[in-house]
Amino acid sequence: MTDHHYVFDGTKEQAELDRLRLLESSFDPKARQRLENVGVSDGWHCLEVGAGAGSIMNWISEKVGSTGTVVAVDTDTRFLLSSVSSNTVIVKGDIRTVDLGRSRFDLVHGRYILLHIPEFASVLEKMLLLFKPGGWLVFEEPDFSAARCLVGSEDALLAFDRVTSAVETITKP
Ligand SMILES: C[S@@+](CC[C@H](N)C(=O)[O-])C[C@H]1O[C@@H](n2cnc3c(N)ncnc32)[C@H](O)[C@@H]1O
Repeated sequence: MTDHHYVFDGTKEQAELDRLRLLESSFDPKARQRLENVGVSDGWHCLEVGAGAGSIMNWISEKVGSTGTVVAVDTDTRFLLSSVSSNTVIVKGDIRTVDLGRSRFDLVHGRYILLHIPEFASVLEKMLLLFKPGGWLVFEEPDFSAARCLVGSEDALLAFDRVTSAVETITKP
């Protein structure tokens, strides 16, 4: 396993929180719809991988209620600890190495997390051991290879291409 540093490690606290909140405001509505579609509800036991600033962790926690549970794993838990419900456990750890047992979860969900892990295939294999028979694995990951900026100044187009190719190098082992 290669040594892994999350690309945004060391980002100033407010800047990182702003970035995570932007992700949430852009992607939460569709994420919630997807999770509604798989049926997340009372009594489910769920794992949220790379929980970030916690909006989906909190939403799942409400959906599963007092008879369900949420385990939220992140290497950086500073934005998660302020609003933890009684059915939620925050685990500070690296998803590649943290021990989460086997066959426990009705749902394993992650968003914009595998993108940051060069060994994403082995993480996915590990995730396959974590959910119960009939459980759901839901990962929402971007495909930057398809990203194109169609309008804007020449400088903006170049900047967009530079950012896109930088992002694409993140997952190269
Ligand atoms: C781009 S953010 C996405 C946050 C959240 N899933 C969302 O979409 O709003 C990636 C998150 O994964 C966490 N992370 C990065 N590498 C990780 C790893 N190896 N194990 C666990 N968490 C990790 C980061 O700390 C960060 O909170």
